[in-house]
Amino acid sequence: MASSTRLSVWVALAAVAVWCYLNFVTILEATAGRITIDPARLQRWENLPDVANGACVVDTVANACEDVNVHAASSTAFLACGDPAGRVQWFPSSRFQLASNRATFREQFFKFDLKTNTRTELKLDMNGLLPDDHDIVTHGLDIFPAGEKKDDKKNDKILVFAVNHARSGDAILIFEHTLGTDVLRLVREVRHPAIKSANSVAAIGPRSFYITNDHYYPRGVLRLLEDRFGPWAWATSVQYCSAEEGAAVVCKEVSETMPCANGLAVSKDNLVFAGDSKNGSVTVYEMADGKPDQLRRVRVVDVGAIADNIKILAGTGDPLVTVFPDGEELPLFLANVSALGRTVFAPTAVLRLRKERDFEPELLLRDNGAQLTDMTAADIDPKTRTLVGASFLKYGGFAVCKLPDSVDLS
Ligand SMILES: *[C@@H]1O[C@H](CO)[C@@H](O)[C@H](O)[C@H]1NC(C)=O
Ligand SMILES: *[C@@H]1O[C@H](CO)[C@@H](O)[C@H](O)[C@H]1NC(C)=O
Repeated sequence: MASSTRLSVWVALAAVAVWCYLNFVTILEATAGRITIDPARLQRWENLPDVANGACVVDTVANACEDVNVHAASSTAFLACGDPAGRVQWFPSSRFQLASNRATFREQFFKFDLKTNTRTELKLDMNGLLPDDHDIVTHGLDIFPAGEKKDDKKNDKILVFAVNHARSGDAILIFEHTLGTDVLRLVREVRHPAIKSANSVAAIGPRSFYITNDHYYPRGVLRLLEDRFGPWAWATSVQYCSAEEGAAVVCKEVSETMPCANGLAVSKDNLVFAGDSKNGSVTVYEMADGKPDQLRRVRVVDVGAIADNIKILAGTGDPLVTVFPDGEELPLFLANVSALGRTVFAPTAVLRLRKERDFEPELLLRDNGAQLTDMTAADIDPKTRTLVGASFLKYGGFAVCKLPDSVDLS
């Protein structure tokens, strides 16, 4: 080959390389399922005045509460909390994977009695099923009546379902709790390859539940690439899992895929709500013929902001969606956990999607971040007209807000 020909081959290859580099995102979109989300779609609740946040008290003992669920019959909030400094080193869903840098792996659950305003740390009884010092790193949480009937108000036992990020892998822990006591007694640890990057859990029976995974790859190089170049249309979905006694654990994908499945809740009329924290949407599903492992998509609601956890407003069945009106600047928050809510603020909002208004989002509460900062979940006790908001990275991990009369909870 003449040297001039050789040179032009190199020039052509270099030009192709430069073109690929400049158009890398476009190439990923055309070939690998990368999607682009218009940031303007996620700003509907930005720059608005505060709403209904005038009477909030921040708890200063519990920290880093990612999720909360109110047991309305007893006006008790159950919270999954933990260690902000530890999460900066290692918390699988937010990119940090350096387990060797994390000092402890023993996070906590709390209950808060909304009638007496008393907070209690719940003691874990591992019941011989797992070692007493087994890793507990909390995330999503749900509660379910321990009896057979969903509406059994006299039942004094509930089940608490909790996502656990142990170093040995993700699991759903199912605890039994007798109302009025301070113990969570483990009755089942559910593991399955489909429970891999778990975020939320929503119970549908004593041993069955839905979960979302918020990433496709739990760890490793592929996870780094997933985070670096995403979001990906194929990355996440809703799984249905059943863990009946004496039978193998079965999990099944029950939704189409989405970029970042996050919040999850099931209403009494068998509607399932799944939020997406990258796409800013909540998808509403119904169980086909009441079968929990066969979901049919009813509609997609654009909620106008990054959507985090979803709870059901007791007595109505309407979902309450916690959103980040100004986006979630996770790198900033992770670099400044001790300043969160002090000098670094993450505004927050709670939306109610009324079924009777076709799930059109309405603003129920908004806070500029001074009281409820980096809030990932909020649930409401209609009886005491109280909202409990949980902040997943903050020292002072939850706030209790008396709602003004202007907020309609019916
Ligand atoms: C993303 O949100 C838009 C607007 O709400 C919706 O049309 C679309 O279906 C959503 N995509 C996914 C994968 O949920
Ligand atoms: C956040 O933390 C970084 C690193 O410690 C620091 O440089 C920065 O000033 C902090 N930002 C704020 C707003 O406090």
